[in-house]
Amino acid sequence: MYFKDKVAVVTGGSDGIGKALVQLLLSNGAKVATCGRNYDKLYQLKAFHPNDDLFIYAADVSKEADCKKFIDEVVKQFGKIDVLINNAGISMRAEVADTDLETIKRVMDINFWGTVYCSKFVLPEILRSKGTIVGVSSVAGFRGLPGRSGYSASKAAVNSFLEVLRTELLESGANVMWVCPGFTTSNIRNAALNKDAKPQGETPMDEGSMMSAEECAQHILHAIEKRKRTLVLTFTGKRAVFMNRFFPSLADKLVRKFFYKDGKLVK
Ligand SMILES: NC(=O)c1ccc[n+]([C@@H]2O[C@H](COP(=O)([O-])OP(=O)(O)OC[C@H]3O[C@@H](n4cnc5c(N)ncnc54)[C@H](OP(=O)(O)O)[C@@H]3O)[C@@H](O)[C@H]2O)c1
Repeated sequence: MYFKDKVAVVTGGSDGIGKALVQLLLSNGAKVATCGRNYDKLYQLKAFHPNDDLFIYAADVSKEADCKKFIDEVVKQFGKIDVLINNAGISMRAEVADTDLETIKRVMDINFWGTVYCSKFVLPEILRSKGTIVGVSSVAGFRGLPGRSGYSASKAAVNSFLEVLRTELLESGANVMWVCPGFTTSNIRNAALNKDAKPQGETPMDEGSMMSAEECAQHILHAIEKRKRTLVLTFTGKRAVFMNRFFPSLADKLVRKFFYKDGKLVK
């Protein structure tokens, strides 16, 4: 019962992987705080867990002041923080040539700066508790994916930022790790920004054939408990990282083949 009475903060816990993490943490006896931009979605989550073990807070992680207020409120509510999971994230789908720069900036602000803000503000608590900071990154952080320039760059930046923080904290007793899910069933592709920085409102992929958010959450909690350095999920995800490391030119061709048909980006 590693998580019993631990205080865990999960950003973006109202959907997908974050929601599965919140539910699994609660069922493991943790006290959980989560945030999201849409209060109604948070409120629906709270309706399923009306007791004091779940604290919900409307915050946009791309806003520094929101992140500060959120972390301060969690400490007021629960008195300490043992685990921060930087999960809130957004994707995009448009080739660089067509993309409004606003799309790339929005993705970077949420995925990269959201992780930086929350990690920075939580640091004194994590040092005190000798706890764990996690980044929910992506295979795209190891191997850039077409149509996802801002997303891939944001996740590579998250990996790098957390690698530095991990090294700085190596003798502190705290752990820093980044996990890289492969394709996982969630709302991320519906919410992904199009070339005009608007949600694309559909998924171009077969969501049913992916890892479930619940299974992904189980792997993440197991890795936190084992105080791992990093975790890459799914066979396809591991293969992409391996191929890109040892056969990068071939990986370019294979990735291109996966995402394009007749010269058009189809995924
Ligand atoms: N699903 C995949 O295939 C996959 C693969 C690799 C990595 N990941 C990563 O896993 C993480 C979770 O993604 P998911 O697939 O579970 O996506 P999702 O189903 O779209 O859920 C995203 C969650 O983040 C919240 N969120 C988005 N922008 C936010 C912001 N600015 N401030 C606060 N909360 C925000 C959303 O709530 P609101 O919209 O209400 O803010 C929602 O609760 C992301 O970091 C993603 O990059 C996912």
